[in-house]
Amino acid sequence: MRLDLDDARRRYGWALTAEDQDRLPFYAGLVHAFEDDATALELLAQVRAEQRNPMLVLAALHLLALEGHPVLGPLYADVRRGTPRPVDEMVASVLAVLHAEPELVRAQLHRSTQTNEPGRSAVLQPALRYVAAGATRVNLVDVGTSAGVNLYLDYYGVAPEDSEDPLTLVCRDVGPVERTGALPHIASRTGVDLHPLDLANPQDQRWLEACVWPEERRRFERMEAIVSARASWPPVSIIAGDALDRLDAALARGEDGALTVVTSTWFAAYLPRDAQLAYHARLTDACASGSVAWISIELPVAVAWPSPPGTTAPPRVGATQVMVTRPGGEPEHYGWCHHHGRWLVRDAPARGETTTRDAAD
Ligand SMILES: C[S@@+](CC[C@H](N)C(=O)[O-])C[C@H]1O[C@@H](n2cnc3c(N)ncnc32)[C@H](O)[C@@H]1O
Repeated sequence: MRLDLDDARRRYGWALTAEDQDRLPFYAGLVHAFEDDATALELLAQVRAEQRNPMLVLAALHLLALEGHPVLGPLYADVRRGTPRPVDEMVASVLAVLHAEPELVRAQLHRSTQTNEPGRSAVLQPALRYVAAGATRVNLVDVGTSAGVNLYLDYYGVAPEDSEDPLTLVCRDVGPVERTGALPHIASRTGVDLHPLDLANPQDQRWLEACVWPEERRRFERMEAIVSARASWPPVSIIAGDALDRLDAALARGEDGALTVVTSTWFAAYLPRDAQLAYHARLTDACASGSVAWISIELPVAVAWPSPPGTTAPPRVGATQVMVTRPGGEPEHYGWCHHHGRWLVRDAPARGETTTRDAAD
């Protein structure tokens, strides 16, 4: 089979947004080097289509480091400690490993990118207030849930600046974001995933860790805090299987009379095109019935479904779209966010207020 190396090059080129490249010099240096490296291009081009994501290659390398690779282990540990070596030196070392031992990386590429980002709960919270307005009790169903950390969306605080508390997410709001007032009571929490990860399983924890970018120490601390706090949080129920096969079972769970709210964040991008359209149609129909609402957070270029009415121009290149469907309603544009929830631009005017379009940071 002929490998599409140009496609792989483009994917490395898009891997990090400009704002993430500014924050993450090591990862920015790596993806730029990979754009011109035959081994890195071939590795990515060999991945099955729906997982052909540069983050999978980066996570595979990070996993090798976490598993004690003699070169990558100390290098990534320095990066995580915040005491990195010069970027050129680190990139050259990683490339040397890639060239000498490509099979080590290739052996991990059967995996899936399973980043479970609690920061997305900072975006889900106000969207939940919006779609569930008037409902006091909600059955939460998170599709493509990974380890289920966003099933605890009501257990995180949100603030515009980082605080001492790792369970307080950092999100800068622009526009009339619904942050005041109680969230509805979450009566049940159900996740669906093709390969759910278990926060109590050390191997699953390690893969989750590998999917986090090593320059973002706060994200590791947050995940550790979640793993510790989880024992005192309510139980969740996780259904293993393909989303389209298991959606009806998930929607049937929970408390009678409560509004079912489906969340799916950076999940549909990993489905084949036909499955994306089928998923959109299933949820749109379910919401039209009046007893289900849906919050979707996806990169528009990665999903095949139509832009919802009201879609504005993204405030930044690479912004992720927040789409909401209220019970009895149709999909509508809610706003744009950073893909890990670092900022949220709420576009639609709420209750007569005017949306402001200042820069997000
Ligand atoms: C990038 S992760 C996002 C996880 C989580 N939604 C978040 O935002 O933190 C995508 C998840 O979708 C899951 N997934 C991919 N294809 C799936 C399918 N057909 N059915 C169910 N889950 C799927 C993967 O296993 C993975 O855990």
